[in-house]
Amino acid sequence: MQKRLARLRQQLADQPFDGLLVVKPENRRYISGFTGTAGCLLVTAEDAVLITDFRYTEQAQEQAPDFHVVQHGTSAPETIRSELIRLGIKRLGFEKDYLTYGLYSTYLEKFAPVELVPAEGIVEKLRAVKDEEEIAILRQAAKLADDAFSHILGYLKPGVSERDVALELEFFMRRQGAASSSFDIIVASGVRSSLPHGVASGKLLEKGDFVTLDFGALYQGYCSDITRTVVLGEATEKQREIYEIVLEAQLHALQHIKPGMTGQEADALARDIIREKGYGDHFGHSLGHGLGLYIHEEPRLSAVSNDVLQPGMVVTVEPGIYIPGFGGVRIEDDVLLTDSGIERLTGSSKDLFIL
Ligand code: GLY
Ligand code: MN
Ligand code: MN
Repeated sequence: MQKRLARLRQQLADQPFDGLLVVKPENRRYISGFTGTAGCLLVTAEDAVLITDFRYTEQAQEQAPDFHVVQHGTSAPETIRSELIRLGIKRLGFEKDYLTYGLYSTYLEKFAPVELVPAEGIVEKLRAVKDEEEIAILRQAAKLADDAFSHILGYLKPGVSERDVALELEFFMRRQGAASSSFDIIVASGVRSSLPHGVASGKLLEKGDFVTLDFGALYQGYCSDITRTVVLGEATEKQREIYEIVLEAQLHALQHIKPGMTGQEADALARDIIREKGYGDHFGHSLGHGLGLYIHEEPRLSAVSNDVLQPGMVVTVEPGIYIPGFGGVRIEDDVLLTDSGIERLTGSSKDLFIL
Protein backbone atom coordinates (compact mmCIF):
# COMPACT_ATOMS: atom_id res chain seq x y z
CA MET A 1 0.00 0.00 0.00
CA GLN A 2 2.90 2.33 0.72
CA LYS A 3 3.98 2.03 -2.91
CA ARG A 4 0.49 2.88 -4.09
CA LEU A 5 0.36 5.94 -1.86
CA ALA A 6 3.77 6.99 -3.18
CA ARG A 7 2.60 6.56 -6.80
CA LEU A 8 -0.50 8.61 -6.05
CA ARG A 9 1.63 11.39 -4.57
CA GLN A 10 3.75 11.47 -7.72
CA GLN A 11 0.56 12.04 -9.71
CA LEU A 12 -0.66 14.72 -7.30
CA ALA A 13 2.52 16.74 -7.78
CA ASP A 14 1.27 17.84 -11.23
CA GLN A 15 -2.30 18.62 -10.23
CA PRO A 16 -3.87 22.06 -9.67
CA PHE A 17 -4.83 21.25 -6.05
CA ASP A 18 -3.01 20.56 -2.81
CA GLY A 19 -5.07 17.64 -1.51
CA LEU A 20 -7.24 14.91 -3.01
CA LEU A 21 -10.47 13.63 -1.49
CA VAL A 22 -10.94 9.94 -2.36
CA VAL A 23 -14.48 8.66 -1.88
CA LYS A 24 -14.99 6.02 -4.56
CA PRO A 25 -14.89 2.66 -2.70
CA GLU A 26 -12.49 0.85 -5.06
CA ASN A 27 -10.12 3.82 -5.09
CA ARG A 28 -10.28 4.13 -1.33
CA ARG A 29 -9.45 0.46 -0.93
CA TYR A 30 -6.69 0.51 -3.54
CA ILE A 31 -4.82 3.39 -1.93
CA SER A 32 -5.39 2.61 1.75
CA GLY A 33 -6.18 -1.11 2.05
CA PHE A 34 -9.38 -0.26 3.95
CA THR A 35 -12.27 -2.48 2.81
CA GLY A 36 -15.15 -0.90 4.73
CA THR A 37 -18.16 0.51 2.93
CA ALA A 38 -18.01 4.05 4.30
CA GLY A 39 -15.30 6.63 4.62
CA CYS A 40 -13.02 8.90 2.65
CA LEU A 41 -9.33 9.60 2.26
CA LEU A 42 -7.58 12.96 2.30
CA VAL A 43 -4.18 12.70 0.65
CA THR A 44 -1.62 15.50 0.38
CA ALA A 45 2.12 15.52 -0.33
CA GLU A 46 2.80 14.89 3.38
CA ASP A 47 -0.39 13.64 4.99
CA ALA A 48 -2.73 10.71 4.56
CA VAL A 49 -5.95 10.74 6.57
CA LEU A 50 -8.79 8.22 6.57
CA ILE A 51 -12.08 9.54 7.90
CA THR A 52 -14.73 7.00 8.78
CA ASP A 53 -17.39 6.31 11.40
CA PHE A 54 -17.62 4.34 14.65
CA ARG A 55 -18.47 1.06 12.87
CA TYR A 56 -15.18 1.04 11.00
CA THR A 57 -12.61 2.86 13.11
CA GLU A 58 -10.91 -0.25 14.52
CA GLN A 59 -10.95 -2.04 11.15
CA ALA A 60 -9.52 1.03 9.42
CA GLN A 61 -6.65 1.27 11.92
CA GLU A 62 -5.77 -2.37 11.24
CA GLN A 63 -6.14 -2.29 7.46
CA ALA A 64 -4.68 1.13 6.72
CA PRO A 65 -1.53 1.54 8.83
CA ASP A 66 -0.18 4.27 6.53
CA PHE A 67 -3.18 6.47 7.27
CA HIS A 68 -4.06 8.57 10.28
CA VAL A 69 -7.60 7.39 11.10
CA VAL A 70 -10.10 10.01 12.22
CA GLN A 71 -13.57 9.03 13.43
CA HIS A 72 -16.38 11.35 12.45
CA GLY A 73 -19.56 11.89 14.44
CA THR A 74 -23.00 12.67 13.08
CA SER A 75 -21.64 14.97 10.36
CA ALA A 76 -18.87 13.60 8.13
CA PRO A 77 -18.54 16.93 6.20
CA GLU A 78 -17.92 18.75 9.52
CA THR A 79 -15.00 16.41 10.30
CA ILE A 80 -13.62 16.65 6.77
CA ARG A 81 -13.76 20.42 7.11
CA SER A 82 -11.77 20.32 10.38
CA GLU A 83 -9.16 18.12 8.69
CA LEU A 84 -8.93 20.47 5.70
CA ILE A 85 -8.16 23.30 8.10
CA ARG A 86 -5.68 21.21 10.12
CA LEU A 87 -3.83 20.14 6.97
CA GLY A 88 -3.92 23.62 5.47
CA ILE A 89 -5.62 22.51 2.23
CA LYS A 90 -6.76 25.48 0.14
CA ARG A 91 -7.70 23.72 -3.08
CA LEU A 92 -9.28 20.29 -2.77
CA GLY A 93 -9.44 17.85 -5.68
CA PHE A 94 -12.54 15.63 -5.78
CA GLU A 95 -13.48 12.65 -7.96
CA LYS A 96 -15.65 14.38 -10.53
CA ASP A 97 -17.14 11.18 -11.94
CA TYR A 98 -18.19 9.90 -8.56
CA LEU A 99 -19.32 12.68 -6.22
CA THR A 100 -23.09 13.22 -6.35
CA TYR A 101 -24.45 16.67 -7.02
CA GLY A 102 -26.00 16.61 -3.54
CA LEU A 103 -22.69 15.99 -1.79
CA TYR A 104 -20.89 18.44 -4.04
CA SER A 105 -23.37 21.15 -3.03
CA THR A 106 -22.94 20.31 0.66
CA TYR A 107 -19.14 20.38 0.38
CA LEU A 108 -19.20 23.64 -1.54
CA GLU A 109 -21.12 25.29 1.26
CA LYS A 110 -19.38 23.59 4.21
CA PHE A 111 -15.78 23.75 3.02
CA ALA A 112 -15.77 27.41 1.87
CA PRO A 113 -13.40 29.17 1.37
CA VAL A 114 -11.63 25.94 0.30
CA GLU A 115 -11.96 25.67 -3.46
CA LEU A 116 -13.28 22.42 -4.98
CA VAL A 117 -11.36 21.31 -8.08
CA PRO A 118 -12.66 18.46 -10.27
CA ALA A 119 -10.14 15.61 -10.62
CA GLU A 120 -10.47 12.96 -13.28
CA GLY A 121 -9.40 9.32 -13.17
CA ILE A 122 -6.23 9.80 -11.13
CA VAL A 123 -6.50 6.67 -9.00
CA GLU A 124 -8.21 4.80 -11.85
CA LYS A 125 -5.11 5.29 -14.02
CA LEU A 126 -2.92 3.82 -11.29
CA ARG A 127 -5.30 0.90 -10.87
CA ALA A 128 -5.15 0.05 -14.58
CA VAL A 129 -1.66 -1.44 -14.20
CA LYS A 130 -1.71 -4.25 -11.68
CA ASP A 131 1.06 -5.04 -9.21
CA GLU A 132 2.28 -8.57 -8.41
CA GLU A 133 -0.04 -8.97 -5.46
CA GLU A 134 -3.07 -8.04 -7.56
CA ILE A 135 -2.04 -10.31 -10.41
CA ALA A 136 -1.73 -13.26 -8.04
CA ILE A 137 -5.28 -12.65 -6.76
CA LEU A 138 -6.68 -12.12 -10.28
CA ARG A 139 -5.16 -15.46 -11.34
CA GLN A 140 -7.03 -17.18 -8.52
CA ALA A 141 -10.27 -15.35 -9.32
CA ALA A 142 -9.94 -16.50 -12.94
CA LYS A 143 -9.26 -20.08 -11.87
CA LEU A 144 -12.41 -20.05 -9.75
CA ALA A 145 -14.40 -19.05 -12.84
CA ASP A 146 -12.77 -21.82 -14.90
CA ASP A 147 -13.54 -24.39 -12.21
CA ALA A 148 -17.14 -23.17 -12.04
CA PHE A 149 -17.50 -23.58 -15.81
CA SER A 150 -16.23 -27.19 -15.66
CA HIS A 151 -18.66 -27.84 -12.84
CA ILE A 152 -21.69 -26.36 -14.59
CA LEU A 153 -21.20 -28.43 -17.75
CA GLY A 154 -22.48 -31.41 -15.76
CA TYR A 155 -25.55 -29.47 -14.64
CA LEU A 156 -26.87 -28.08 -17.94
CA LYS A 157 -29.78 -30.03 -19.34
CA PRO A 158 -33.23 -29.41 -20.77
CA GLY A 159 -35.76 -28.49 -18.08
CA VAL A 160 -33.33 -26.69 -15.75
CA SER A 161 -34.09 -22.99 -15.37
CA GLU A 162 -31.57 -20.26 -16.19
CA ARG A 163 -31.96 -19.05 -12.61
CA ASP A 164 -31.04 -22.44 -11.19
CA VAL A 165 -27.95 -22.53 -13.40
CA ALA A 166 -26.94 -19.11 -12.10
CA LEU A 167 -27.55 -20.19 -8.51
CA GLU A 168 -25.46 -23.31 -8.97
CA LEU A 169 -22.60 -21.28 -10.43
CA GLU A 170 -22.75 -18.89 -7.50
CA PHE A 171 -22.93 -21.67 -4.89
CA PHE A 172 -19.96 -23.35 -6.48
CA MET A 173 -17.81 -20.23 -6.56
CA ARG A 174 -18.68 -19.27 -3.01
CA ARG A 175 -17.98 -22.75 -1.72
CA GLN A 176 -14.54 -22.40 -3.31
CA GLY A 177 -13.84 -19.13 -1.49
CA ALA A 178 -15.43 -16.37 -3.59
CA ALA A 179 -17.18 -13.63 -1.62
CA SER A 180 -19.86 -13.41 -4.32
CA SER A 181 -20.36 -13.22 -8.06
CA SER A 182 -18.47 -10.32 -9.60
CA PHE A 183 -21.75 -9.16 -11.27
CA ASP A 184 -25.29 -10.48 -11.84
CA ILE A 185 -24.78 -13.80 -13.59
CA ILE A 186 -25.88 -13.95 -17.22
CA VAL A 187 -27.51 -17.16 -18.35
CA ALA A 188 -29.22 -16.48 -21.66
CA SER A 189 -30.65 -19.46 -23.51
CA GLY A 190 -32.43 -19.98 -26.83
CA VAL A 191 -33.64 -16.75 -28.40
CA ARG A 192 -32.69 -14.94 -25.17
CA SER A 193 -29.02 -15.50 -26.04
CA SER A 194 -29.32 -12.57 -28.45
CA LEU A 195 -29.50 -10.36 -25.33
CA PRO A 196 -25.85 -9.53 -24.63
CA HIS A 197 -26.71 -8.97 -20.98
CA GLY A 198 -29.57 -11.41 -20.51
CA VAL A 199 -29.46 -11.85 -16.74
CA ALA A 200 -30.71 -15.33 -15.76
CA SER A 201 -34.51 -15.62 -15.94
CA GLY A 202 -37.08 -18.29 -15.11
CA LYS A 203 -36.85 -19.69 -18.66
CA LEU A 204 -36.19 -23.42 -18.80
CA LEU A 205 -33.33 -24.66 -20.97
CA GLU A 206 -34.57 -26.48 -24.08
CA LYS A 207 -33.07 -28.90 -26.56
CA GLY A 208 -31.32 -27.03 -29.36
CA ASP A 209 -30.75 -23.87 -27.29
CA PHE A 210 -27.62 -21.83 -27.42
CA VAL A 211 -26.78 -21.15 -23.76
CA THR A 212 -24.55 -18.18 -23.04
CA LEU A 213 -23.02 -18.21 -19.57
CA ASP A 214 -21.27 -15.03 -18.46
CA PHE A 215 -20.11 -14.92 -14.88
CA GLY A 216 -17.15 -14.38 -12.59
CA ALA A 217 -15.95 -14.58 -9.04
CA LEU A 218 -15.31 -11.72 -6.64
CA TYR A 219 -12.28 -13.08 -4.82
CA GLN A 220 -10.32 -11.12 -2.21
CA GLY A 221 -11.85 -7.98 -3.69
CA TYR A 222 -10.94 -8.76 -7.32
CA CYS A 223 -13.21 -9.71 -10.22
CA SER A 224 -12.97 -12.39 -12.87
CA ASP A 225 -15.24 -12.43 -15.92
CA ILE A 226 -15.67 -15.33 -18.34
CA THR A 227 -18.19 -16.16 -21.05
CA ARG A 228 -18.76 -19.42 -22.83
CA THR A 229 -21.60 -20.39 -25.16
CA VAL A 230 -22.70 -24.00 -25.50
CA VAL A 231 -25.44 -25.81 -27.41
CA LEU A 232 -27.93 -28.18 -25.80
CA GLY A 233 -28.43 -31.09 -28.16
CA GLU A 234 -27.61 -30.89 -31.88
CA ALA A 235 -26.10 -27.65 -33.22
CA THR A 236 -27.63 -26.32 -36.45
CA GLU A 237 -25.53 -25.12 -39.41
CA LYS A 238 -26.29 -21.53 -38.54
CA GLN A 239 -25.31 -22.00 -34.88
CA ARG A 240 -22.00 -23.51 -35.95
CA GLU A 241 -21.36 -20.73 -38.46
CA ILE A 242 -21.88 -17.98 -35.89
CA TYR A 243 -19.89 -19.79 -33.24
CA GLU A 244 -16.94 -20.30 -35.60
CA ILE A 245 -16.85 -16.61 -36.57
CA VAL A 246 -16.87 -15.42 -32.96
CA LEU A 247 -14.21 -17.97 -32.07
CA GLU A 248 -12.00 -16.96 -34.99
CA ALA A 249 -12.34 -13.29 -34.03
CA GLN A 250 -11.53 -14.00 -30.38
CA LEU A 251 -8.52 -16.21 -31.13
CA HIS A 252 -7.17 -13.68 -33.62
CA ALA A 253 -7.45 -10.90 -31.05
CA LEU A 254 -5.78 -13.02 -28.37
CA GLN A 255 -2.95 -13.85 -30.72
CA HIS A 256 -2.21 -10.26 -31.72
CA ILE A 257 -3.01 -8.06 -28.72
CA LYS A 258 0.16 -6.61 -27.29
CA PRO A 259 1.47 -3.68 -25.27
CA GLY A 260 1.77 -0.40 -27.16
CA MET A 261 -1.47 -0.94 -29.02
CA THR A 262 -4.42 1.36 -28.41
CA GLY A 263 -7.76 0.07 -27.20
CA GLN A 264 -9.11 0.96 -30.65
CA GLU A 265 -6.48 -1.15 -32.44
CA ALA A 266 -7.16 -4.10 -30.15
CA ASP A 267 -10.91 -3.80 -30.75
CA ALA A 268 -10.39 -3.77 -34.52
CA LEU A 269 -8.57 -7.12 -34.41
CA ALA A 270 -11.84 -8.89 -33.69
CA ARG A 271 -14.30 -6.41 -35.16
CA ASP A 272 -12.76 -6.49 -38.66
CA ILE A 273 -13.20 -10.27 -38.86
CA ILE A 274 -16.82 -10.14 -37.73
CA ARG A 275 -17.52 -7.29 -40.15
CA GLU A 276 -15.89 -9.08 -43.08
CA LYS A 277 -18.15 -12.08 -42.45
CA GLY A 278 -21.19 -9.79 -42.66
CA TYR A 279 -22.10 -9.63 -38.99
CA GLY A 280 -20.63 -6.22 -38.09
CA ASP A 281 -24.04 -4.81 -37.14
CA HIS A 282 -24.54 -7.69 -34.73
CA PHE A 283 -21.43 -6.96 -32.64
CA GLY A 284 -22.67 -3.82 -30.93
CA HIS A 285 -20.47 -3.70 -27.84
CA SER A 286 -16.79 -3.17 -27.29
CA LEU A 287 -14.16 -5.93 -27.37
CA GLY A 288 -13.23 -5.71 -23.73
CA HIS A 289 -12.43 -3.82 -20.57
CA GLY A 290 -9.98 -3.70 -17.71
CA LEU A 291 -10.68 -5.96 -14.79
CA GLY A 292 -9.67 -5.50 -11.16
CA LEU A 293 -11.34 -4.27 -7.99
CA TYR A 294 -14.27 -3.36 -10.24
CA ILE A 295 -15.77 -5.38 -13.06
CA HIS A 296 -15.42 -2.69 -15.75
CA GLU A 297 -12.41 -0.43 -15.42
CA GLU A 298 -9.59 1.07 -17.46
CA PRO A 299 -8.37 0.39 -20.05
CA ARG A 300 -11.23 0.17 -22.55
CA LEU A 301 -10.87 -1.95 -25.67
CA SER A 302 -13.38 -0.21 -27.91
CA ALA A 303 -13.69 1.43 -31.31
CA VAL A 304 -13.23 4.86 -29.70
CA SER A 305 -10.60 4.10 -27.05
CA ASN A 306 -7.19 5.79 -27.14
CA ASP A 307 -6.04 3.96 -24.00
CA VAL A 308 -2.59 2.51 -24.61
CA LEU A 309 -2.12 -1.09 -23.49
CA GLN A 310 0.74 -1.65 -21.07
CA PRO A 311 2.34 -4.67 -19.41
CA GLY A 312 0.57 -5.42 -16.14
CA MET A 313 -2.89 -4.51 -17.40
CA VAL A 314 -5.56 -7.19 -17.07
CA VAL A 315 -8.33 -7.04 -19.67
CA THR A 316 -11.16 -9.10 -21.09
CA VAL A 317 -11.39 -10.12 -24.75
CA GLU A 318 -15.04 -10.78 -25.53
CA PRO A 319 -16.37 -10.51 -29.07
CA GLY A 320 -19.93 -11.61 -29.78
CA ILE A 321 -22.63 -11.85 -32.44
CA TYR A 322 -26.27 -11.35 -31.45
CA ILE A 323 -29.18 -11.94 -33.81
CA PRO A 324 -32.62 -10.96 -32.46
CA GLY A 325 -35.13 -13.79 -32.76
CA PHE A 326 -32.38 -16.34 -33.33
CA GLY A 327 -29.78 -16.16 -30.57
CA GLY A 328 -26.22 -15.17 -29.94
CA VAL A 329 -22.71 -16.20 -29.05
CA ARG A 330 -20.05 -14.51 -26.93
CA ILE A 331 -16.67 -15.91 -25.94
CA GLU A 332 -14.75 -14.08 -23.22
CA ASP A 333 -11.39 -14.58 -21.56
CA ASP A 334 -9.36 -12.60 -19.04
CA VAL A 335 -5.78 -11.90 -20.04
CA LEU A 336 -2.71 -10.28 -18.53
CA LEU A 337 -0.68 -8.01 -20.81
CA THR A 338 2.97 -9.07 -20.65
CA ASP A 339 6.09 -7.46 -22.12
CA SER A 340 5.58 -9.21 -25.45
CA GLY A 341 1.90 -10.11 -25.67
CA ILE A 342 -0.51 -11.75 -23.29
CA GLU A 343 -0.89 -14.52 -20.78
CA ARG A 344 -4.36 -16.02 -20.54
CA LEU A 345 -5.77 -16.08 -17.02
CA THR A 346 -8.94 -18.00 -17.88
CA GLY A 347 -8.25 -21.26 -19.68
CA SER A 348 -11.58 -23.04 -20.18
CA SER A 349 -11.96 -24.93 -23.44
CA LYS A 350 -13.63 -23.14 -26.33
CA ASP A 351 -14.67 -26.19 -28.31
CA LEU A 352 -18.35 -25.81 -29.06
CA PHE A 353 -19.73 -27.97 -26.24
CA ILE A 354 -22.74 -29.87 -27.47
CA LEU A 355 -24.36 -31.20 -24.32
N1 GLY B 1 -20.95 -9.30 -18.10
C1 GLY B 1 -20.17 -8.19 -18.12
C2 GLY B 1 -19.11 -8.25 -19.12
O1 GLY B 1 -18.79 -9.29 -19.66
O2 GLY B 1 -18.50 -7.28 -19.39
MN1 MN C 1 -18.55 -11.14 -18.88
MN1 MN D 1 -16.59 -8.59 -19.56
